[in-house]
Amino acid sequence: MPRPAFANWLSDTNDVTQIFLAAGQIPGLINMAGGLPDPSTWPIADLSALAANAISNHPKDALAYAPIEGLPSLRDTIAARFSAPGLHLHRDNVMITSGGMQALDLLGKVLLDDGSLIAAQSPAYLGALDAWRPRRPIYRPMHLHANDFDPEAAFQGAQFAYTVPNFSNPTGRLVGLDQRQALLSAAQTTGTWLIEDDPYGTLYYDSAPLPRMLSLSASNSPHEDTPYDGPVIYLGTLSKELAPGLRVGWVIAAPQMIRALVTAKQGSDMSTSGLSQRITQDAFAAGLTDRILPEILALYRARRDALCAAMTTHLADLFTWEIPAGGMFVWATARDPALNTDALLPEALAQGVCITPSSVFDPHGLNRRAIRINFTLNDPEKLTEGVRRLARAAKSCLIKAA
Ligand SMILES: Cc1ncc(COP(=O)(O)O)c(C=O)c1O
Repeated sequence: MPRPAFANWLSDTNDVTQIFLAAGQIPGLINMAGGLPDPSTWPIADLSALAANAISNHPKDALAYAPIEGLPSLRDTIAARFSAPGLHLHRDNVMITSGGMQALDLLGKVLLDDGSLIAAQSPAYLGALDAWRPRRPIYRPMHLHANDFDPEAAFQGAQFAYTVPNFSNPTGRLVGLDQRQALLSAAQTTGTWLIEDDPYGTLYYDSAPLPRMLSLSASNSPHEDTPYDGPVIYLGTLSKELAPGLRVGWVIAAPQMIRALVTAKQGSDMSTSGLSQRITQDAFAAGLTDRILPEILALYRARRDALCAAMTTHLADLFTWEIPAGGMFVWATARDPALNTDALLPEALAQGVCITPSSVFDPHGLNRRAIRINFTLNDPEKLTEGVRRLARAAKSCLIKAA
C-alpha cells in the first residue's frame, strides 16, 4: 500500500537549502555560508561551572518541567534588562523560547491563517520564511532603504511587519533612527504588529547601538504599574551573545500576545530547557555576557575588515557591496546580471568554498543576483583563501554563461 503523502508545503522549499546544508560535510571546504559564531568565543569554564551549580543547587529549576512561559526569575531578569527610560517591562511582557527560531515559529502559529499577508523586510531571513512556509503566506516585500518606501502603505492589511533592524540577515544593513521611528509610527497608525527580530543587536563594531524600536515605543507603557502594551514584538536570543547550543531566546510584547504565544508553545515543546534557562539567568547575574562582549567585538571586527580587504583585492570587478557596521554578513551583488548566483553555488563548492545565494532569502526564489558571505566563523587567512576561491568560481560561472 502506498504511504500517505506528505503535506503540500514540503514541496515548496528551495533545493538550494539542501545543497547548502550538505556542503558542511565536504572536507577542506571553507564555510562562509552559515551565520555561525566562532566556538573560541564560548566561555567554556564559566558555562561548565554555571551548569554544575544549576544542577546541584537548583535541581527543581534545572531538571523539572519548567513553566511554559519560562522561569519567573529569568522573565524578571529579561524585563529588567530591556526596560529603558519610560519603558516599564513586567514579567507578563516576557516569554522564554527555545531560541529565536521558536519565537518565529510560534508567531506564525498565532498570527497566520492560510494566505495571510506579511509585510517583510526584503531580502528576508531564511529561517523566518521556513517557519512560516506551512501557512503559505503572501509576502509584501519592504525595501526599507528605498527612497520611496512608505511604511504605512506597506503595513495596510498585513498581519504583521517583520524586520531585522540591526545588521539584517542577509544584508548586514542597519535601519537608521528615522526609519525606526517611521516603522513604529506606521505600526501605531495601522494597528499592525511590528516584529523586531534582534539577534545581532549587540554586534556593533563601529558605533554605539541605536535605540531599539521597543524602547522607542515607550509611550505604550506610561505607568510603572501597568505592563507595556505597544505594537512591537521584540525577539532576543542568546545565540550570538553567548552560545547557540543553549537554545534560549525571549519574546517581549504586550501581555495579550505573550498569552497567545504561551498557548502555542504548550503544543510545541511545552517548555524551554530549565537547565539552559537557569544557566542563562546566572550568566546574566554574573555579568558574563557583558564581560565577553568586548573580545567578541574585537575578533569579529578584525574578521570583517579582513574579509572586506580580500574582497577589494579579488572580487571588486565582479561584485559590489557595502562594508557592514556590525553583525555577521556581507551582502555582495553581482555587477554582471549574467552571473546567476544559484549557478555560482555548485561552482563555488567545486572550488572548496560555500556562500549563500540570494534566492533563498526571496519568498519567491527569484533574486539570483547576490550572495551572503559570513565573516565570523573563519580566521583572516581562511577568509582570504575563501574569497580567492570564490573569485575563481565566479569567473568560471561567467565563462559558462557567455
Ligand atoms: C534574523 C535571525 N533571526 C533569528 C535567528 C534565530 O536564531 P536562534 O534560534 O539561534 O536564536 C537567526 C539566526 O541566525 C537570525 O539570523
